[in-house]
Amino acid sequence: MAVRLGFIGTGGMAGAHMKNLQTFDDVEFTAMCDIVEGKAAERAKKYGGTPYTDFSEMFDKEELDAVYICTPPFAHGEQERIACENGIPMFIEKPIAVRLEQAIIINDYVQRSGVITSVGYHWRYGGDAQKAKEILSGEKILGALGYWMGGMPGVHWWRVRAESGGQHVEQTTHIFDICRYLVGSDAKTVHGVAARGSMTDIPDYDVDDISMVNIEFKNGAVANIASACAMEGFGRVHLEVFCRGLVIQIGGGSTVNRKGQTEELKGQGFDRDRVFIDAVKKGDSKKILSPYSDALETFKITMAASKSFETGKAVDL
Ligand SMILES: NC(=O)c1ccc[n+]([C@@H]2O[C@H](COP(=O)([O-])OP(=O)(O)OC[C@H]3O[C@@H](n4cnc5c(N)ncnc54)[C@H](O)[C@@H]3O)[C@@H](O)[C@H]2O)c1
Repeated sequence: MAVRLGFIGTGGMAGAHMKNLQTFDDVEFTAMCDIVEGKAAERAKKYGGTPYTDFSEMFDKEELDAVYICTPPFAHGEQERIACENGIPMFIEKPIAVRLEQAIIINDYVQRSGVITSVGYHWRYGGDAQKAKEILSGEKILGALGYWMGGMPGVHWWRVRAESGGQHVEQTTHIFDICRYLVGSDAKTVHGVAARGSMTDIPDYDVDDISMVNIEFKNGAVANIASACAMEGFGRVHLEVFCRGLVIQIGGGSTVNRKGQTEELKGQGFDRDRVFIDAVKKGDSKKILSPYSDALETFKITMAASKSFETGKAVDL
């Protein structure tokens, strides 16, 4: 039987999931919800389903087997609560929120309801990341350097701190997350610095132009992760992991360097939509690499960084 899907937020990222999911023969687009009526209607026309502008109405009227929540970071909360109350599995785009208290409350709903969740940390599912995880399993990891340095995304909410949380929360979160995944530990202490002042001509812009975050992990590994959105025509987006005689790079042409010999890093990857749909069908979340509770740990690091930017002090987690 087809998995009946509802979408909440039908913008750019939702479109990427829909394009992928339409190639599956076991899903049905049942409902498309966006506060902008025309966007929901356009997706419904292209992929099927009934358009809505209010997700409460959508939940009331439709029989759904799962929802994709692809709203901007500031617009989380109520849709997750209703999905949990109705026992509906959720694929949720990262970042899971912009406020820590809210993410903790949602995590409580998720844990109490037992619904299957998957958060859009797709780097984890890459063949390179899977191979890296395998190689690193027998190594002592010393540390990591990560970067997301490039230009500013076009969606308006991205440049507004209260709506996106800033670049480290919204975008570089992928690097923080893959770093946690490969280091295999949660953070103990976070300290960060940030600067701005070069983007003052951009209306409503109040996020940092650049930031750098130091992390000390519970297993003793250390990391520095940099974000910058003021570069134009430049992109440095990757993570390097360092062990004795071994350097692994994920992103930007993934490689493994053993004592000076560099090879391409290749392994068997997975499609995160396929993994989610299979989990929903089987009622088994084992293969999901980023459930809500795990994504919360990544979110805590970026929220601690925000606090450290403001106070100048290290934050213990
Ligand atoms: N995993 C990835 O690599 C990746 C890439 C891009 C974006 N994202 C994430 O996906 C999310 C969405 O980003 P996007 O680029 O699609 O943004 P977008 O602005 O293109 O789309 C968001 C949509 O949500 C709608 N919306 C806002 N509030 C709503 C509400 N209460 N109910 C229903 N619809 C609502 C907006 O009208 C808009 O159409 C963000 O959290 C972003 O970080 C993830």
